[in-house]
Amino acid sequence: SPVQIPDLTKCQVASASSPAGPLVTLYFNCCLPLTGPMIDFSFERYKSPQKHIRRPAHTASEEYIAKYIKAYELMRALPDTDPRSLKVQANIHCSFCNGGYLQRGVNGDIPLQVHFSWLFLPWHRWYLYFHERILASLIGDPGFSLLYWNWDDQVHGGNQIPEAFTRVNTSLYDEKRRPEVQPPTIVPLAASTPANLSASVVTNENLNNMYQSIVTASTATLFMGGALRAGDDLRKSTVINAPLGGAIENGVHTAIHFYVGDPRTQLLQDMGNFGTASRDPLFYSHHGNVDRLWEEWRFNMPDGERFDHTDPDFLNAEFVFYDENANMVRVKVKDALDNKKLGVYYKKGLSDNRWINYSP
Ligand code: C2O
Repeated sequence: SPVQIPDLTKCQVASASSPAGPLVTLYFNCCLPLTGPMIDFSFERYKSPQKHIRRPAHTASEEYIAKYIKAYELMRALPDTDPRSLKVQANIHCSFCNGGYLQRGVNGDIPLQVHFSWLFLPWHRWYLYFHERILASLIGDPGFSLLYWNWDDQVHGGNQIPEAFTRVNTSLYDEKRRPEVQPPTIVPLAASTPANLSASVVTNENLNNMYQSIVTASTATLFMGGALRAGDDLRKSTVINAPLGGAIENGVHTAIHFYVGDPRTQLLQDMGNFGTASRDPLFYSHHGNVDRLWEEWRFNMPDGERFDHTDPDFLNAEFVFYDENANMVRVKVKDALDNKKLGVYYKKGLSDNRWINYSP
């Protein structure tokens, strides 16, 4: 059966440990506020008066960046008890990724985990959807849209941290980032890419890694990740890291998290750890690109259309988020499979998808 929404009245301390090296464990209290009865998502109810058109961050105008900064300022200024605050937004990620809640309706204590399986892409799509609606409502602009970090673009500068996020003392800045990650350093798309390579070598490695993470991952299981049903316990897998994770998740996506996280912290905070990743506003732009690439994989690969999982345990898996009015909303995976129905569009980058033609 499909994974269900956990009992939100039963929250436990979440924790994260270093996967390699000396064992360090950090504990997070990321329990979520209960704001009243849960609403069921419907397209009718959440119909947006305007489309959300997400653009590449490195092409944003100064005017748009100013607005973006303002929106995150307002989000950061909300009290920590407000579900729309950046604090609670980050805790949503922490609690469903670091063992804050247990799976409901199953035997034994099995933490709910939205990474490492077919839940990864739809959960994060919903997460961005509500996050964007909250920002839009805070700033009073229903067309407000996330900027995506176009890191697959190896030609026009998408492969560096978008400059807008590096402005110290603005709401888009996070001091817990790897110091060397400043533009114009090119961000490597694999953890295995050694440091100190020339830009052209990194660029080539990146195209290769994009190709591996997307073009060669032709099936839903390879690309999105494997089946996770109610009662499945990832901790019992024989594969230690990311047991059922798909190529997009385990490849380029995770590489970026580890690269942006600050090695001077214990667990590569903020971006390099689930417990803290979405404290960094860059997280939502990073995932904007992951989400866009899901669409690219689905519709724009050279061998034609590809297909999402169709298993009912996938389609009927349920999650909970907060909307722009701080209501708790119950959503299903099946309603996340078409961005257009959600009013979300991606504007093409300047040199998208060059990696499609990359022959290793
Ligand atoms: Cu929830 Cu990029 O991870």
